[in-house]
Amino acid sequence: MSERRPCVLSGSCHPELARSLAGALGVPLEPAEVQRFADGEIDVCVPNAVRGRHAVIVQPTSPPGERHLLELCLLADACRRSGADRITALIPYFGYARHDRRTHAGQAVGVRVVTDLIAAAHVDRIVSVDVHCTAIEAVSTARFDQLSAVPLLLQALRDWPAAEGVVVAPDLGAAKLAKNIGRALGAPVALVHKSRRAADQVEALDLLGEVHGRVPLIVDDMISTGGTIDAAVAALLAAGCVPRITVAATHGVFAGLALERFARLPIARIVVTDSVPFAGRQAPPVERLSLAPLLAEAINSAE
Ligand code: R5P
Repeated sequence: MSERRPCVLSGSCHPELARSLAGALGVPLEPAEVQRFADGEIDVCVPNAVRGRHAVIVQPTSPPGERHLLELCLLADACRRSGADRITALIPYFGYARHDRRTHAGQAVGVRVVTDLIAAAHVDRIVSVDVHCTAIEAVSTARFDQLSAVPLLLQALRDWPAAEGVVVAPDLGAAKLAKNIGRALGAPVALVHKSRRAADQVEALDLLGEVHGRVPLIVDDMISTGGTIDAAVAALLAAGCVPRITVAATHGVFAGLALERFARLPIARIVVTDSVPFAGRQAPPVERLSLAPLLAEAINSAE
């Protein structure tokens, strides 16, 4: 009789999450090999266990995104050639999702290129969480299911003092998220108008909403260099907020010196999920919420 349970595999990006997912699904994590040749090219090998089964490849495409993306595509190809019945790419953090339009002539639309590459590797379904490009379903030729970690974040924020607080969108793109979180927690909302001068240089141009004497909760879909949060904190402090700030985002990429940057700010708490691996530095306090139950539900619902 053929094995009906999904076969969970991991690329090199986030084996910890793959193990948690396998645990939540009640299956072992199957040993996929990912190695590098001396010239840097990637060599993968998947186990026979994938034959005739639903292969679930766990691989966020967080930095270095191009390596993790290529590994994912090679693993999917290997699964197909080894007789997998169908293939799901579980990409909790979807890299290049911010490249969803050309802001000036001569640029590429990275999110389109990436979704095409994944579909060309014979992936049947992509599952991701709070993708920055909300129109990604329309961009992808493979079936694309977007999950939301907002209920998880809300659960973790239930002790945040909403009565004396203000939920802050650090840029226009986060306005809807802040509105939803403000409504769910029963707190007013403020909005920072930001300008990005360079990839890691952000400045706050304006602050809309009353923050004086209030305890801020800054919400965003992702934190990369930390520039957006840094600029929002500066604007909030200048406007007289209580210097005890909570930051919540689905994806804590913490690129470069983001955490060192935050350590200089009055940030009491940072809440993110485990969508990407974490380097493990402790200050300021970063809480990582497990996505495994949510992801397992998405896999089980398709069985
Ligand atoms: C951009 O619109 C996103 O929602 C985030 O605000 C942004 O990507 C965060 O990047 P960084 O931490 O580098 O400012």
